[in-house]
Amino acid sequence: MAGATRIHVWDALVRVLHWTLAAAVTTAWVSGRWPPHDFDAVHHTAGYVAGAAVLLRLAWGFTGARYARLAQFVRGPRTVLAYARAMGSGHEPRYVGHNPLGGWMVLLLWSSAFALALTGWLYTTDWLWGYEWLSDLHAALAWLIATLVIGHLGGVVVASWRHRENLVGAMFSGRKRAPEGDDIA
Ligand code: HEM
Ligand code: HEM
Repeated sequence: MAGATRIHVWDALVRVLHWTLAAAVTTAWVSGRWPPHDFDAVHHTAGYVAGAAVLLRLAWGFTGARYARLAQFVRGPRTVLAYARAMGSGHEPRYVGHNPLGGWMVLLLWSSAFALALTGWLYTTDWLWGYEWLSDLHAALAWLIATLVIGHLGGVVVASWRHRENLVGAMFSGRKRAPEGDDIA
């Protein structure tokens, strides 16, 4: 909608941490799969960067600006279900922040990235090195996050299309169309 008023939604820290997390998870994923583990330093560094980005973002989720806060975008099961049903019938409202399904996707992405950093680190300690269950858990989490990222990208495409807005551009500029009509601010 050309000419519509735009407001600031994603603050600089949210944007920087998002792209840092995306780059770190991708780098860790690719270097982890690359046989025969010639890129350990890259893999470990990328994994720790991902873990640190999650912790920082979580802290910002309690102290940051309006749309960065967990309390703003983590909604209860009733709201999530109602939103999913509305999506099914093609009448879901537009959320200026994360929508209710997106909010839970954010929590899943953070949890799996952090669990990967934790299990990866534990596997390098004298205490747990060589335990197959831990290596299997790390690999399973890596498949889980790959699946979640595909779902995340699908969600971004669907929401962008449904509400006629460029959500990817908004994750760079921080700006989105101001709420109008039945939009939820
Ligand atoms: C490994 C890859 C990725 C991970 C782990 C990831 C994770 C996340 C997380 C945790 C958020 C919430 C942001 C926050 O509130 O701090 C988010 C939001 C978002 N991400 Fe990603 N992301 C990834 C890749 C991408 C890519 C490649 C794109 C674009 C092509 C993208 C586009 C977006 C957009 C547009 C949002 C905002 C969604 C909304 O409007 O509610 N992400 N992502
Ligand atoms: C977002 C973070 C991470 C992702 C996405 C990730 C991903 C992966 C993947 C895809 C593999 C290959 C699994 C397989 O063999 O099937 C792997 C292996 C491994 N990763 Fe990570 N990883 C992350 C963080 C870390 C960290 C922080 C460390 C340690 C400092 C680490 C240490 C290892 C080790 C030692 C292996 C080899 C395990 C084995 O050979 O059984 N990872 N990782």
